[in-house]
Amino acid sequence: MQIATRTATRHGVEVNGFDPAAATAADLAALREHLYRDKIVVLKQQTLTPDRFIELGRAFGTPVAYYEPMYHHPDHELIFVSSNLRHDTGPIGVPKTGAFWHSDYQFMPEPFAVTLFYPQRLPTVSRGTYFIDMSVAYRRLSPGLRAAIEGTRCRHSARRYVKIRPSDVYRPLGEVIAEVERKTPAQTWPTVLTHPVTGERILYVTEAFTYEIEDADGNPLPRRLIDDLLAESGQLDTTFEHPNIFLRGYEPGDLVLWDNRTLIHRALHNPGGEPTESFRVTVTDEYPLSAGVIA
Ligand SMILES: [Fe+2]
Repeated sequence: MQIATRTATRHGVEVNGFDPAAATAADLAALREHLYRDKIVVLKQQTLTPDRFIELGRAFGTPVAYYEPMYHHPDHELIFVSSNLRHDTGPIGVPKTGAFWHSDYQFMPEPFAVTLFYPQRLPTVSRGTYFIDMSVAYRRLSPGLRAAIEGTRCRHSARRYVKIRPSDVYRPLGEVIAEVERKTPAQTWPTVLTHPVTGERILYVTEAFTYEIEDADGNPLPRRLIDDLLAESGQLDTTFEHPNIFLRGYEPGDLVLWDNRTLIHRALHNPGGEPTESFRVTVTDEYPLSAGVIA
């Protein structure tokens, strides 16, 4: 197993020659350390079966099945499938997922620590994921804004991005919305997390899920604060040229792991609707979301 040195122009580290069947406990511990420190680990030239992929997830935490079954792989509920392919047996998973700035499960009581993303079929163009390192975004905030959010908390909900299921057709919209609120009630987290492993401070605000901010006593603060945080962190830049945004491109065989506390991401959909499919395993780890917060 060879771990490439992190460079100034490339985010995260790349690992060549990783074979999960032969990996030692020391190898896996080294990968975990890199994941928390470098935020992205790309395992090159992987050919894993679904079972092996899930098994790899266990090296980084506890795999969790997505709460909505329509995303599940038909034979492996721990694998989340994003796909626009038509298999002989019909479509699997859900097409066009995640094209908005978010952190996986930020709206849930236990957000994921690590996302393992394994493209199965890549388009010829537009293959990659946009990321923002929110510890960098926090450090780059204007001093006034950073001071204004000290000690505040934000509320997060999936409601704007929950996908209507085939079984919801003909249901009253109010009933569907009530179900969303019941199944995924909004969660409140500190606006700034402290990473439980690295100690870094992380701005935990996303365009998709964050909708309210309050002071330390629970008094509501102006929505304008959230808008300013989204703008300064780069999430409102539709050109994707903001210095905080980087695009991580993929090659066939790449298996990409990222620290879901620190990085927010946004899927890049290819405009031509080329066939594309990816598998994802998401895990919780043994740490709280933020040092000092019981998740
Ligand atoms: Fe995601």
